Amino acid sequence: MSQNINKRLNISLSILLLTAFGISGLAQGQGQSQGNGQGGMGMGGNQPQDMQTIHALFGDHQKISRTVKNIANGLEAVTESDDPKVQALIKEHTWAMKVRLKNHQPIRQWDPLFAALFQHADKIKLEVTNTAKGVKVLETSTDPYVVKLIQSHAASISEHVKEGMSSMHKRHELPDAAPKAEAKFLGKGDGVMTCPVTGEPVDKNISAEINGRTVYFCCANCRDTVVKNPELYLKPNSAEVTMNVLKLQTEIGAGKDKQVELLFEGAQRKIQQITLRNRAVLAAHKAAEPITIQCIAGKGVIRISEKGETIELRPGVLLTLEPNVMHEVEALPAVSILLTRFTEK
Ligand code: HEM
Repeated sequence: MSQNINKRLNISLSILLLTAFGISGLAQGQGQSQGNGQGGMGMGGNQPQDMQTIHALFGDHQKISRTVKNIANGLEAVTESDDPKVQALIKEHTWAMKVRLKNHQPIRQWDPLFAALFQHADKIKLEVTNTAKGVKVLETSTDPYVVKLIQSHAASISEHVKEGMSSMHKRHELPDAAPKAEAKFLGKGDGVMTCPVTGEPVDKNISAEINGRTVYFCCANCRDTVVKNPELYLKPNSAEVTMNVLKLQTEIGAGKDKQVELLFEGAQRKIQQITLRNRAVLAAHKAAEPITIQCIAGKGVIRISEKGETIELRPGVLLTLEPNVMHEVEALPAVSILLTRFTEK
């Protein structure tokens, strides 16, 4: 009975870790083992094995000591432990990661720093030497930007060693000197059903308004990451994003007398929800483009002054207006309308 529970726990844990680390190439099952000739430690890029080793390293993080010295073209790092079991884990992990880099088998791709690291794998030279208690690493590059990347990555490992499992989900931004052109699109989900960062199902309670659309995320961390660098995770406009769910308010709650919310802005149309309260009036004005107006809630009127026409606005009323037609909208006493401007003829 308890064995079964353990088995189930192990399976759930494995799934959790696979997702969290973003380990790729599961289907490849490649025999990529590469003898390290360094005391028979585990080798190569066996994914479940890599995952277990990383998990064990997190678990034993307090038994690990690590020093990193940045040098002009990279870094020297020594990572060790007094516990023979942890020494073995450190060696196994480091050699396995060396193979991953060499074979372009990325890991943790939702984290911008790790994504960039594997993108530049060919420019990284990682020399690993086993010490009595762990590993010594000399990691260098001839590309100044890649030097920054590997130094940032080494710092992130030190952070893992210091903080253990609590740092597992932390994302690492790219170092400052990242040239714009290097920034690669990292988006995984559509921001409606799946998180733009991880591709996991979204939590509808976690959202942000970005470029005129509501984007949903799996967690607050992902939201903060995308708000900082939307272009890395969200496709620019409707040409690529085929559907957006807009944040339409179907009831008039409390608020300002005149409230304008931008719900969507694309290459060919702009959609706004305008709510007028307390008999507010949108004074006579005209739009250069064709528009449609749909009443969503409340009551009001729209007047086309030139023609002396008045149309009552109540939920469900939908009307079109040609360009340059002067019109005025009045709330009786409150009305909410959806305005669509077609910006391309
Ligand atoms: C307590 C946790 C960890 C320890 C002690 C550890 C240790 C190490 C060491 C010693 C290296 C060699 C490079 C260096 O020393 O700077 C290394 C490289 C690497 N580690 Fe870890 N690691 C940990 C967690 C992780 C995690 C969570 C991941 C990703 C899921 C990861 C992915 C990598 C990769 C991709 C490399 C090779 C790239 C490079 O060195 O630039 N490590 N790790």
